[in-house]
Amino acid sequence: MSRKEQIDLNRLPRHIAIIMDGNGRWAKQRGQMRIFGHENGVKPVKDVAEACTELGIEYLTLYAFSTENWNRPQNEVNALMNLLVKTIHAEIKTLQDNKIRLLAIGDLKSLGEESYAELMHAIELTASNENLALVLALSYSSRWEIVEAAKNIAIKTREGSIEPSDIDSAMFSEYLTTRSVPDPELLIRTSGESRVSNFLLWQIAYTELFFTNTLWPDFGKEDLYEAIIDYQNRERRFGLISEQINPL
Ligand code: FPP
Repeated sequence: MSRKEQIDLNRLPRHIAIIMDGNGRWAKQRGQMRIFGHENGVKPVKDVAEACTELGIEYLTLYAFSTENWNRPQNEVNALMNLLVKTIHAEIKTLQDNKIRLLAIGDLKSLGEESYAELMHAIELTASNENLALVLALSYSSRWEIVEAAKNIAIKTREGSIEPSDIDSAMFSEYLTTRSVPDPELLIRTSGESRVSNFLLWQIAYTELFFTNTLWPDFGKEDLYEAIIDYQNRERRFGLISEQINPL
């Protein structure tokens, strides 16, 4: 049985999030500049989005650029931004053909005018697509997002439109950039690093984590299937005991 056939289509995660890591190392192994790794990171983005669409996954969130990535050498930052803009522009037709809706989370205004405009254009064009929602995390960091939410709740509390007793976790979630997106059931990180690097910290409270040594440019549909099968073999208890999840 192929890996794809081993997937139980009735127990798919609704939302998969991925920390795409290892582009730089992939390029270095080939004696190339880091940007060569990023350029070769576009195909796996397309393959994974296609695989998710075929399976019927509802949301795929990709960590494409973190707040911390701004501190990389300026030439890498510029090259990454150009690559993102170019890719979004080039792939609008693919998004439309596959009815993929593009969304973005993060401090989007900080991307610069051209990138922001290109992104908004693609988001508007694809807004009514009904298959996969592809969420790009751009200039995103979880602590930034949580602090922004806290600030906005504080402002409303001071204005009197919110009472401190109204604040609970459901309400807090509504102030995050992911307000329209359910929490991911599965988070994948490539390249052998076992950390979450300021990504969706609030949203992954009960998420299953899957770490693989594969570097992002080598990641493909089969790797995604492997992660989904692994997820489906886990027992998600949400703080309960096994017998409560599986009563006799
Ligand atoms: C991490 O590898 C990867 C990034 C910071 C950029 C991810 C961007 C892409 C895959 C380009 C295309 C994306 C889209 C959404 C069109 P790294 O540079 O940290 O690798 P290293 O850890 O080996 O140095």
